[in-house]
Amino acid sequence: MTADTRNILVTSALPYANGSIHMGHLVEYIQTDIWVRFQKMKGHNCLYICAADAHGTPIMIKAREENINPEVLVERISKQQLRDLNDFGVEFDNFYSTHSAENKKLVEEIFNALKKNGHIYTKDIEQAYDEKMKMFLPDRFIKGVCPKCQAEDQYGDACEKCGATYNPNELINSFSTLSNTKPVWRESKHYFFKLSNFEENLKTWIKDSNLHKSVTNKLFEWFEMGLHDWDISRDDPYFGFKIPGEEKKYFYVWLDAPIGYLASFLNFCKKNKINYSDYFDAESEAELYHFIGKDIVYFHTLFWPAVLKGAGIRQPTSVFAHGFLTINGKKMSKSRGTFINGRTYLDHLDPSYIRYYYAAKLGPSMEDIDLNTEDFVARVNSDLVGKLINIASRCSGFINKQFDNQLSNELDNQELFNQFFSASEGISNHFKNREYSKAMRKIISLADETNRYIENKKPWIMIKDEVLHKEVQGVCTQGLNLFRMLMIYLYPVIPEIAVNAMNLFNEKEWRWKDLGSPILGKKIKEYRPLLTRIEMKKVENIMTSKEDQSDKITKETGKITIDDFMKVDLRVGIIEEAKEIEGADKLLKLIVNLDKENRTIFAGIKSAYKVEDLVGRSVVVAANLAPRKMKFGTSEGMILAAGPGGNQIFLLSVDEGAKPGMKIK
Ligand code: 2FM
Ligand code: ZN
Repeated sequence: MTADTRNILVTSALPYANGSIHMGHLVEYIQTDIWVRFQKMKGHNCLYICAADAHGTPIMIKAREENINPEVLVERISKQQLRDLNDFGVEFDNFYSTHSAENKKLVEEIFNALKKNGHIYTKDIEQAYDEKMKMFLPDRFIKGVCPKCQAEDQYGDACEKCGATYNPNELINSFSTLSNTKPVWRESKHYFFKLSNFEENLKTWIKDSNLHKSVTNKLFEWFEMGLHDWDISRDDPYFGFKIPGEEKKYFYVWLDAPIGYLASFLNFCKKNKINYSDYFDAESEAELYHFIGKDIVYFHTLFWPAVLKGAGIRQPTSVFAHGFLTINGKKMSKSRGTFINGRTYLDHLDPSYIRYYYAAKLGPSMEDIDLNTEDFVARVNSDLVGKLINIASRCSGFINKQFDNQLSNELDNQELFNQFFSASEGISNHFKNREYSKAMRKIISLADETNRYIENKKPWIMIKDEVLHKEVQGVCTQGLNLFRMLMIYLYPVIPEIAVNAMNLFNEKEWRWKDLGSPILGKKIKEYRPLLTRIEMKKVENIMTSKEDQSDKITKETGKITIDDFMKVDLRVGIIEEAKEIEGADKLLKLIVNLDKENRTIFAGIKSAYKVEDLVGRSVVVAANLAPRKMKFGTSEGMILAAGPGGNQIFLLSVDEGAKPGMKIK
């Protein structure tokens, strides 16, 4: 390590472990990955830290729906997410989970420190409560009619139609999205973090942390509106860490999530024998940067630095916020047919294309970026394949075939090489300042210049001339060295292609400092195509992938896809027992044999069937319904029947010979 080696910690926002990684997420992970790879190439000790964001109500509900523990859900989803991210070339130094022993310990330590330092208080507040589900409802689980514009089906915090924000109790005809019942209002004690204690400190931090001016402007708007204290607790049931000293209260996911950055790093330190406090003491000289989306600026530039300050921990060096991704000018959404999962993309296309395209579009601001499919195909084919890779394929052919793979001992035009090298400082600054689009423009203009140089020399004509034959080696060595320099510049953006290019030159590693020294007098390998053109057809296949667009079909036609239908696991069941239930007018309690297990199912068929006629009957069971708590017990499935009700109910059954447990297809 040299004296100017910096210790740099970098994070991307932790993905919620309840869905798949989509093209919107990837803007951030690719942006961060490029930055980290660049810093590593510069020789800095830069570490990229991330984790699964495991806690919160949506994850708890999803796990319930699947009838599994949230831990199991988080484990499964975060593994998939990590696999998808890695397949896009996103390389973390550590990917952990906020549901970890390290995080629990850090969260408790930080909470205790905040309490001790007088930054925590409790207060009773009123909140929407779902009496059927027996839980308080987050705003996103309440819907109703917008109080401002009367649009139906709006969330409890904001209207998507008119943009108004409001409190959930202002919604007209509100209902819980979990049970469809009307929420009631209940009081409960909550823990608050006194954000207002930190106004002065935050203003200083903002000045020192070189935030983009669009972020700073936003922050000053918030200061003007006044800083509100922050509710950091949630009531049972919740998936999270319990608040010390409380039986039925948990820390809000947004308190423990950013602490998860620290916990993931602590886990990395343990595995790699690094001193954690060197990075997180109040006086630490290590640098800490968070890459985030514009929607979570409030959490990262107000709550988070304030929590750290309040607990005596160093604050972030800076926070880098990016905009959202639109697809063909539209917000990404399943119902609009503009939703693309990362995995769907990978099933059709090379990740290098999108890494380059995002880089070509990204700047340091919070402006949204558009993935325009036509522009994507045109730009990648023209810049990467037509301009860049073309240099290597043109020049290496001659070296391979005419010169026994041997590069010449001298460049044909040292001055041109120097001129390309003199661009390195500017390009380096562009990467450092996250002006990737500027860096890409410069690099591609250098590729244009290389092609012009080759056009002027015309090695394909020179090669036919005995006198000029030897010169071709120098010209192609020049072309290949310029190509090599461009690939070193592009290594952070398209590492996979760069590594293949490095192999062509028989090299093992590329660092920024290698830019200035050309490769001469050495052998290269046989050229193999480094990248092929994108076919528009493949992009069209992504856009119409049924897996991503099934919601659109449902919304537009009222129909479901075969995949939707296949989600329902219908099985043959045999009724083993049927009982009347005291106090129930309609329900019977059935024990249904599905071969591997018996299920308890409550069925509203009492008005049409006698219990003694049911035992031994075959029925059709929806076997993968989430268990449903009912007044008389939990129902573990549903049996299918036709008819309007009363004594007109007709159970579906299967022909003789069908065995219990058989899948109905
Ligand atoms: O907005 C989100 O997707 C959150 N899961 C990000 C958390 S970032 C950090 F604070 F942990
Ligand atoms: Zn509205």
